Amino acid sequence: MKIDFFSAKKYDIAFFDDANKTTGFDIFYHETHLGPHSVNIIEDASAVCVFVNDKLTREVIKILAKKGIKIIALRCAGFNNVDLDAAKEFNISVCRVPSYSPEAVAEHAVAMLMTINRKTHKAYNRVREQNFSLDGLLGYNLFGKTVGVIGTGKIGKAFINIMLGFGCKILAFDISPDLELQEKNINYVAIEKLFQESNIISLHCPLTKENHYLINKVSINLMQTGITLINTSRGGLLNTADVIEALKSKKINALCIDVYEQEEHLFFKDLSLEIINDDKIQRLISFPNVLLTAHQAFFTKEALEEIAETTMDNIARLDKNTMPKDAPTMLSF
Ligand code: NAI
Repeated sequence: MKIDFFSAKKYDIAFFDDANKTTGFDIFYHETHLGPHSVNIIEDASAVCVFVNDKLTREVIKILAKKGIKIIALRCAGFNNVDLDAAKEFNISVCRVPSYSPEAVAEHAVAMLMTINRKTHKAYNRVREQNFSLDGLLGYNLFGKTVGVIGTGKIGKAFINIMLGFGCKILAFDISPDLELQEKNINYVAIEKLFQESNIISLHCPLTKENHYLINKVSINLMQTGITLINTSRGGLLNTADVIEALKSKKINALCIDVYEQEEHLFFKDLSLEIINDDKIQRLISFPNVLLTAHQAFFTKEALEEIAETTMDNIARLDKNTMPKDAPTMLSF
């Protein structure tokens, strides 16, 4: 079977070629995203393999079906970029990797929090220039702080466990609270209470129609002045314009984001010699109290191995018709 593989990077090729030693598919790697501009390069393939910023709209899926694509294999957990109704309508199965080292993402969220708080990124540069002054490097203790966690699935849970180790108090919100966490006496509260009482808020829920712009003028107004906000989930959870206003007014004291609303135009590319026509990201980068990474929270060796193995296994099972209908990796048959 031929697989057209989009948004391919060097590291994808290395890990997928390795995982494909057992499956033996013909993988054609394309650097470009999958979208209306590129869908016509697909030829004689039965599957496409895509990532977070490929755009699988109805229009694209209709063309995929005409080209004989039977499988859309997402090599990520989130699937807000795929029109699942259209996939069903055109009889294309959609699979994903629901879990690949949730610890990788949770640990990155903590790394960002520790960096923005204790300013180790600034200290590193200072010391290299023989500037040993401490001015401007003041942080706060995490011990005793209240951390609001929105979304307590696999990543949220891993994040909570780390924060408990720091001696933080947890306030959790989830549309379906986790039994195991409740048994550990993790305090689930109304989202308004979480906004009002947290010193730090970390987002670990998927992006859905219901929670688009969850962090906006109104929710920010409920928060304490001086909040630290972390988003490693999806850019659309934040109304970026409202967040910029809150940074300017100092309501938000520190912002850590690994995801951005318009990231598909920017992330995973070296644009160091380009003029970037996105004023919001330029404004964010200009703040000294904003730490932005380019969707790298998942990027560990363990996670990449798991992503490649699960994706190839998903495709192989769908190809052989041995995928159970209720498999957790399936979004649509
Ligand atoms: P999960 O499915 O295990 O957990 C998500 C949790 O969010 C569930 O408990 C669900 O009930 C809850 N939820 C759904 N809608 C909600 C809402 N409106 N408000 C509050 N809670 C809600 O997913 P997992 O593996 O923990 O991943 C979470 C998100 O992290 C993914 O959806 C994805 O967007 C993001 N992610 C980011 C990565 C990165 O590299 N930055 C890598 C992997 C995932």
